[in-house]
Amino acid sequence: MRLDKFLAETGVGSRKEAKQLLKKGLVTVNGQVIKEAKTQVDEVQDIIVFSGEELTYQEYYYYMLHKPQGVISATEDKWDQTVVDLLKDEDYREDLFPVGRLDKDTEGLLLLTNDGQLAHQLLSPKKHVDKEYFAIVQGIVTTNDIRQFTTGFALTNKELVKPSELMIDSVNEEEEQSEIRLIIQEGKFHQVKRMFEAVGKKVIYLKRLRMGNLWLDEELELGEYRALTEKELDGLKMNK
Ligand code: URA
Repeated sequence: MRLDKFLAETGVGSRKEAKQLLKKGLVTVNGQVIKEAKTQVDEVQDIIVFSGEELTYQEYYYYMLHKPQGVISATEDKWDQTVVDLLKDEDYREDLFPVGRLDKDTEGLLLLTNDGQLAHQLLSPKKHVDKEYFAIVQGIVTTNDIRQFTTGFALTNKELVKPSELMIDSVNEEEEQSEIRLIIQEGKFHQVKRMFEAVGKKVIYLKRLRMGNLWLDEELELGEYRALTEKELDGLKMNK
């Protein structure tokens, strides 16, 4: 790739800034000062040093975000803050996007990456990747609901949902509220909310806990994010 692109990709600055730094003679490639922005470099083999520091090239980035409510799962929005707006300047890249969507009022695990292939593998209905949610539901969730969820059923608009695994964590009879966990492998629009609506209940709080082998790190506060560890990334790729 071009040297100015390499410098921009490794976070030295914009392409324009990179060109200025090159002109000042601050960059060496394999020990030689290079001033020409269009010089082709091998991002893996060449040793590229800026201001005495070797730059290492990373093609793909993977961040786990603890999505808060009120933020849109998109890369841009006219009105609302988006999940990529939560990234610090030094981590922001134009090519980062959220893998799938959580509703504006849903919290929890959201993966941000620029790896389109992995995103596709995780979202493809053919791959049957688990998505595990915790929800507070208005209404008493029963073993009957569990049975219905286990076999799959029709939503109120007759759309069919595939079998899923519903677990009841607790039921508060007085408040008529239930805390549940649900594992689905599909990703239909508002799926969890619509599944409960179909059995006469209402999701009042929803949080995604897991996607495939990747669990939300509960140490992350709402709105915080961190890079995936190598082990987490390997685990995710095993879902392919
Ligand atoms: N199901 C929903 O209803 N909402 C989400 O955000 C995710 C799954």
